[in-house]
Amino acid sequence: MKFKAILFDTYGTLFDVHTVVKICNELYPGKGEQISYLWRLKQVEYAMQSQLMGRYADFYQLTNQSLKYAVEASGFTLTDEAERILMDTYLKLNVYRETKQVLAYLKEKGYILAIFTNGPKQMIAPLLAHHRLNHLFDDVISVDEIKQYKPAMASYHYATNKLGINREQILFLSSNTWDVAGAKNYGFSTAWVNRKGNVIEHPDLAPDVVIQDLTQLIKK
Ligand code: LAC
Repeated sequence: MKFKAILFDTYGTLFDVHTVVKICNELYPGKGEQISYLWRLKQVEYAMQSQLMGRYADFYQLTNQSLKYAVEASGFTLTDEAERILMDTYLKLNVYRETKQVLAYLKEKGYILAIFTNGPKQMIAPLLAHHRLNHLFDDVISVDEIKQYKPAMASYHYATNKLGINREQILFLSSNTWDVAGAKNYGFSTAWVNRKGNVIEHPDLAPDVVIQDLTQLIKK
């Protein structure tokens, strides 16, 4: 690889946002998948809307707001206790099983590894601590530092400046097709981690490579 640094999106890429299905099903029988799906959908939508409105609220707030929406739209009321349990689950999401091994391999190969996420530090730090992944990253870059959500160009530009290397030397990975498109639009090389066989949303900003999970980074 010609790259110096590999930047990782977080949610859906390293950690499984649908970890919450199980607990949602316990709280709202039969509605776990629907609530989890809506929760994620609205979380991402709210970030984009907040960016368009020029009205920044951090990703934790938006995650909370979208949880309320998802539960109410599914016909329930979110109690304080359920809110606490579900928001807490978000700080301990499952890590995809290959993540640690692949990060260790890439670090060993000498790449600069960094997270680049919409999540603020107070959401990402507990996740990394929970899974003992801190030592594998050289940096954790959050859009919260500049208050510009991905896929705004300014956010990717901020990450590039923070790494202090040229954008051509950065490979960006995300499972979110809109994020991959945003990164490509900015000028990163991109890899789409298409774990679920999803349909590409922006073929004009297609990823340089599509992988099914992170293990394929070891083979390349
Ligand atoms: C992230 C979300 C949006 O930035 O996937 O981590």
